[in-house]
Amino acid sequence: MAPEAPRTYPEPDPDAVLDLAGVTVTRSGNDLLDEISWKVAPEDRWVVLGPNGAGKTTLLSVAAARLHPTRGRVAILGEQLGKVDVFELRPRIGLSSASLAERIPSDETVADVVVTAAYAVVGRFNEQYDGLDATRGRGLLAQFGVEHLADRLYGTLSEGERKRVQIARALMTDPEVLMLDEPAAGLDLGGREDLVRRLSTLARDPYSPALILVTHHVEEIPPGITHALLLRKGAVVAAGPVESALTAETLSSTFGLPLRLDQRDGRYSARAL
Ligand SMILES: Nc1ncnc2c1ncn2[C@@H]1O[C@H](COP(=O)(O)OP(=O)(O)OP(=O)(O)O)[C@@H](O)[C@H]1O
Ligand SMILES: [Mg+2]
Repeated sequence: MAPEAPRTYPEPDPDAVLDLAGVTVTRSGNDLLDEISWKVAPEDRWVVLGPNGAGKTTLLSVAAARLHPTRGRVAILGEQLGKVDVFELRPRIGLSSASLAERIPSDETVADVVVTAAYAVVGRFNEQYDGLDATRGRGLLAQFGVEHLADRLYGTLSEGERKRVQIARALMTDPEVLMLDEPAAGLDLGGREDLVRRLSTLARDPYSPALILVTHHVEEIPPGITHALLLRKGAVVAAGPVESALTAETLSSTFGLPLRLDQRDGRYSARAL
């Protein structure tokens, strides 16, 4: 059999935050992502929805320059994966995920957890950070309502407190895109509502970076989200402006059961029919 001709992809949009074409990730013969094409503009605020195992974290790993796809073209902030030094690219991407959070030392102070994110940019691994960084770090902790925890050891925080610190840390480098993988997982009702409110403020601020938020739950979508991508078994069920992409029909196809979707005051809720 003749070898498959190399695929060609359209030139990436230089103004896009993300421009993925034909992205496929194959492991052990399975396509974790199957021909994903996705474009994110700087002013976009996306939610990525899908059931367990749909490929959301895998997609975010590709989008955050942590994973190379098996096939396809990935452009992040105008740079093409494979042609750019990912260590220069990563500080421009704010990422908060469970796997990154696991690596945060429990004996570090909260202030340091946030501020050390800036080291990656300036490469001052052993130096004292300057006052400007410290002030920015405190400001970000305040933005997420955890400034009073700045001197506590990270390991002593509750799950909800940790989540907020992780988001503050992801914003420390002043990234051009913020990617949050299940930021509300493990939070109680009050914690979730508080986080949704703060994420809504962030999403609605025109000076905020582009936002990509991964979740299983439509209840966690903050008002201000503009676009939705629904993923099932590594493939896109629907993607585009949230009003058209997120409907009872697309959500039902995504989760594989008939669902009713309600929207009120900018918030969503869903239940089985
Ligand atoms: N290295 C690997 N080898 C084989 N399968 C893998 C590998 N990594 C991930 N997978 C599988 O790929 C699928 C997608 O995983 P992924 O973590 O992206 O899903 P997800 O949508 O984030 O799920 P969740 O909602 O549970 O976090 C899962 O079925 C997972 O078991
Ligand atoms: Mg995941």
